[in-house]
Amino acid sequence: MASALPRTFRKMIVTKLTQNFKEATSFQTVPMLKPGPKDLLVKNRFVGINASDINFTAGRYDPTAKPPFDIGFEGVGEVVGVGTDVDKFEHGQGVAYMTNGAFAEYVLVPASIATPIPAAKAEYVPFLVSGRTADISLEEFGKLKSGETVLVTAAAGGTGQFAVQLAKAAGCHVIGTCSTQSKVDFLKSIGCDRPINYTTENLAEILMQEYPGGIDVVYESIGGSTFETCIKSLGFKGRLIVIGYISGYESDKGFVTSVINTLPQRLLSKSASVSGFLLFHYTHRYAESFKRLVSMSETGKLKAFVDNGKNNPSGQFVGVESVVDAVKYLYSKKSEGKIVVELNPDDSSKL
Ligand SMILES: NC(=O)c1ccc[n+]([C@@H]2O[C@H](COP(=O)([O-])OP(=O)(O)OC[C@H]3O[C@@H](n4cnc5c(N)ncnc54)[C@H](OP(=O)(O)O)[C@@H]3O)[C@@H](O)[C@H]2O)c1
Repeated sequence: MASALPRTFRKMIVTKLTQNFKEATSFQTVPMLKPGPKDLLVKNRFVGINASDINFTAGRYDPTAKPPFDIGFEGVGEVVGVGTDVDKFEHGQGVAYMTNGAFAEYVLVPASIATPIPAAKAEYVPFLVSGRTADISLEEFGKLKSGETVLVTAAAGGTGQFAVQLAKAAGCHVIGTCSTQSKVDFLKSIGCDRPINYTTENLAEILMQEYPGGIDVVYESIGGSTFETCIKSLGFKGRLIVIGYISGYESDKGFVTSVINTLPQRLLSKSASVSGFLLFHYTHRYAESFKRLVSMSETGKLKAFVDNGKNNPSGQFVGVESVVDAVKYLYSKKSEGKIVVELNPDDSSKL
């Protein structure tokens, strides 16, 4: 029998538009939600942290957004309330979802966008935003062919880990950038052929010396000088996918890249291309991509690594208040794999 719901719960809200996540957010205790006819009420177990959480608080996703508003892109949890028109879900069912407002102990999710999962485990979170981003962008714009060379930046991160493994699964030679020896070891363990620790090795020089023919596909999420190096390293008919530009997110000034002046000539001379990719423009592919990633994981072809704060000085992320620390952790560059925060830890679901 379903246990009684508390009368109130805790959630995070954005109260100020700024990329400073701590300053932007605060917490509220609010009355328990009631699902509308087509909704599920989900008790969150694990929510995912994303680099763009600070773009969201800065209002960069929706320039018309006015605080207060909810925040948090994704989570997994258990169904604790079912709308009157919903017949495919029942109490206790594990679900994974992407909807705004995940940074809360309870969340309403339209049943139409909830994906049933066998149990509300942390390992499903990375397949939502991070896995789908790598999977769909590489298919749409990477057009990987066996034997090609693929460069992944932030390769040991939430989405980078998938780009590395998917490119390996496609038969490619994979280079991955990262900033610590521990991440180099992690990248080797997931099949990366040439991890580059850019704090001890020069990325531009290595690409020039070891890959004189150029790179076929770049999965690029850093921006700034890394973007410039990647553009310069593109080979004949090379494809660079702009996944993000994290080096500019903490600033309100962005960055200027000098490579823009020479971009037309660089692309034309190699018949190369640059594409931008934003996951939210590919909602029609969510279901199929999630299914493929879970299936690859079940058959041992892919592994989703989660990080609940293993290298965080103040410990693991438990409770909605720890989302602030978890976002700080992402920007500390210490995380490996997908950062998750555990919510409602009183129950049996464990990492
Ligand atoms: N386009 C989309 O739809 C989409 C969807 C999801 C994510 N993304 C993008 O993918 C990138 C990674 O996001 P994620 O959430 O998966 O984060 P993440 O990779 O788990 O963490 C960010 C990593 O970026 C690297 N980094 C390099 N320069 C940095 C800087 N100046 N500040 C902070 N980190 C820096 C760090 O790894 P090293 O220290 O090892 O370099 C860090 O661990 C971001 O650019 C994000 O916006 C885009």
